Amino acid sequence: MRLLVLGGTRFLGRHVVTAALERGHEVATFTRGVSGAPPQGVRALHGDRDDPDALPKALDGWEPELVVDTSGQTRAAARNAAAALADVRGYAFVSSLNAYANWPPGPLGREDDEPAWTTDDDEYGPIKADSERILRAVLGDRFLTARAGLIVGPYDPLYRLGWWLDRIARGGRVVVPAALDQPIALVDARDLGGWLVEAAERGLSGAVNATGPAGMATFGGLLEICREVTGGDAEWVPIPDEELLAAGVEPWQHLPMWLPADEAATAWDVDTTRARALGLPSRPVTDSVADTWAWQRVADRPTAPPGRELPGLPPELEETLLGAR
Ligand SMILES: NC(=O)c1ccc[n+]([C@@H]2O[C@H](COP(=O)([O-])OP(=O)(O)OC[C@H]3O[C@@H](n4cnc5c(N)ncnc54)[C@H](OP(=O)(O)O)[C@@H]3O)[C@@H](O)[C@H]2O)c1
Repeated sequence: MRLLVLGGTRFLGRHVVTAALERGHEVATFTRGVSGAPPQGVRALHGDRDDPDALPKALDGWEPELVVDTSGQTRAAARNAAAALADVRGYAFVSSLNAYANWPPGPLGREDDEPAWTTDDDEYGPIKADSERILRAVLGDRFLTARAGLIVGPYDPLYRLGWWLDRIARGGRVVVPAALDQPIALVDARDLGGWLVEAAERGLSGAVNATGPAGMATFGGLLEICREVTGGDAEWVPIPDEELLAAGVEPWQHLPMWLPADEAATAWDVDTTRARALGLPSRPVTDSVADTWAWQRVADRPTAPPGRELPGLPPELEETLLGAR
């Protein structure tokens, strides 16, 4: 079928494109052309999706039957897509668990039992929730929204798992949170990407908490896999939450994917019954980590988006924490 990826040249979208080609679709991407080009064999359409005229102009009569939307970050983008793509057979939108008004900290039960944001704030969660409503109003039961959790895998520009891999590969004494038995969950971009294509094909509808099963791994287990995969001699220096916080370590940012225990206990507790029932796969964490490392070894390190810093423990903070032990 003719499948349009809104996005498709950075991370998750790339894997969507690969899966769509593998499944025999005629694929087009729609991007500004800033982040790179799609692979050969893909029709590369260009324009800014915030501009209402750009998508109809770029399509120029090419009529997509299926859409996977990985690039929706504004209400205008959702409105413009809804106007231009109202007649498609299936539309899978990548949203986030942040669309829920009570996440974080959660916990999150079944999709229909949890309220989504309804405010008009110019923030990530409310924008995702509004985008879902705008698209659903036009597409109805041809619309699926995948509320993604933590996405990992090759081409990840966010450098969360990536920072841990680099730090652990460097070896020596490594600051880690003391609560290494904290259950976590993640979804591999290749699993999610392939499933989104299938979801659009099957015309699945409604909201899905799109992440791995709760407790599929622990924080410590993930770090252990990083150590095995990178082959370094890293030695853990476990530090309790209170000490990390007192030293100024910012959860999630300075130690990527770390949340203090009270928040972690609920934030990682997400009901994914529907995702499992609808066949969202969850490959072994070892595969995700090993493949991310294989890619990262030859890839340039990502650059921070404007006004933001890449995650990771600043060296002076690491020195202070290790010096105290
Ligand atoms: N990473 C996570 O853990 C996580 C968790 C939950 C949800 N999510 C969601 O997952 C999605 C995945 O993002 P991704 O970066 O991996 O997707 P991607 O499709 O691989 O990359 C983003 C694409 O959007 C295009 N784009 C950006 N702004 C655009 C604009 N104004 N008009 C047209 N195209 C535009 C970019 O190309 P150009 O730059 O060339 O325009 C790029 O191709 C996002 O919606 C994100 O909110 C991510």
